This record gives sequence, C-alpha cells and structure tokens, in this order.
Amino acid sequence: MTPEPALSPSVVVELRHVTKSYAGGVHALRGVSLTVGAGELLAIVGPSGSGKSTMLNVIGTLDKPTSGTVRVAGHDVGALSDARLSALRARHIGFVFQHFHLAAGRDAVDNVADGLLYAGVGPKARRARAREALERVRLGHRLGHRPSELSGGEKQRVAIARALVGEPSVLLADEPTGALDTASGEIVMDLLHELNGTGTTICVITHDHDIAASLPRRVRFRDGEIIADSGPRCRTAGEAG
Ligand SMILES: Nc1ncnc2c1ncn2[C@@H]1O[C@H](COP(=O)(O)OP(=O)(O)O)[C@@H](O)[C@H]1O
Ligand SMILES: [Mg+2]
Repeated sequence: MTPEPALSPSVVVELRHVTKSYAGGVHALRGVSLTVGAGELLAIVGPSGSGKSTMLNVIGTLDKPTSGTVRVAGHDVGALSDARLSALRARHIGFVFQHFHLAAGRDAVDNVADGLLYAGVGPKARRARAREALERVRLGHRLGHRPSELSGGEKQRVAIARALVGEPSVLLADEPTGALDTASGEIVMDLLHELNGTGTTICVITHDHDIAASLPRRVRFRDGEIIADSGPRCRTAGEAG
C-alpha cells in the first residue's frame, strides 16, 4: 500500500479543484487550486463578482465547496463533522470583514475577548489576552471604548485584535480597508505587514491596486478562476500583479 504523502507542515491552506455553484447556474468558483504556505502575505484581486469572497469563505469554512478539497492546517475540511469544523475555525482561522462586525454594546476588550469564546479559555484569561491583543494593535488606550466611540480605523484594529487573539494559523481579511479613508487604510495595512513580519499567515482581498502591489504575492481572479498568481514571495523583480 502506498501511503498518501504527508502535507508539508509549512502548508497552511490548500485548495484543489474547488468549485462552488449556486442554484440558477451561478458558478462562483470554477476549479480553483491554491496553496498558501506558512508566513505568506497574499493579495487576492479581481473584479467584483469574480469569486474572491466565496473563496475566502470556503477557506474560512464558513461556506462549503460544491466539489474539490479544502485543507486548512493539515485538516481535510470536508471530512469534519460540524463540531470539529467549529473547533478548527476557533483554533486556526481569524476573520476580518470590511464592515468590522463588532458588537455595538460591548467595549473593545469584550469584543476581542469574544474571539476566544470557543477556544476553551475562561472569562478572566479571555479578557487578559484581549487586552494584550489590543496593545499589539496599539489600542491600549481604547480598552473601554465601544465601537460608536472609535474611528473606522480603530474599529478595524479591534476586529484585527479579535481575529488574532486566538493565534490562528491564518488571518483572512475581506476588503479590510474598503470602508476606511486612505490614512486609516494605510495604518491597517502597516499593521497587517507588521503581523506578517512576526509570522502570521495572511490572505487579503483588496480592490486597491496600490495595496495589492505592496504585497509579496498576488492572486488574480476572473469569472471564478485564478488567472494569474505571482507565486510565493516575489521571484522576479518588477513583476506587476
Ligand atoms: N449566496 C449566494 N447565492 C447565489 N449567488 C451567490 C451567492 N454568493 C455569491 N454569489 C455569486 O457568486 C459570484 C461570486 O461572488 P463573490 O465571491 O461575492 O465575488 P467577489 O467577492 O469577487 O465580489 C457572484 O456572481 C455572486 O453574485
Ligand atoms: Mg467580495
């Protein structure tokens, strides 16, 4: 018997021939294969409706593919029960959305602590770790502020702290600067670069050409397919995404 070759531990996300179709003949993904290694920072670009969010949701196990295989942190996602899928999500995946998705009535610490709700951490330790995560995104001076008392950029930094507090294997960000002014967007992108510099694997969907150009790898979508991939790290100088 030939054993299946073990996936390299440095592979965090692997999609093979992934499709996603909706009723009415919408093919959001038409056979997408992608490998993301530990420590990568990649931009996912392409026109509206090209399947970027669908792919991110499939990687994040928020959505199931119609066919194909998805592996996250070595786990074949399609083979997991719902309970084990929730555990995988809590342990390995951090999500950041364009519109922050923070709980309105709760302060920054509580919002970030919620990122550990399903991680088997007690309430006191959750809040302590939330405070540390907020320091990391330089919001140590906003711990008790509610979302309505924060700027857009600060809200997104709270959301990033919430995504990171569980130390996920991969941070998935869907247009994280899409609702921000240029200056706040730059702060958020600087933060993502800095987090990547300390080892966090990050996939960012962006419409912004300058942001995409500033990232080490660019994956381009059109009509549910990857039409270009600059590959892990910049291998050729002057390559335009
Ligand atoms: N829940 C859904 N039901 C039906 N069609 C959907 C659904 N979600 C996305 N789509 C369709 O799938 C395609 C890809 O969407 P999406 O992944 O959101 O694109 P992008 O993020 O690149 O703008 C679009 O045609 C969209 O209308
Ligand atoms: Mg989208």
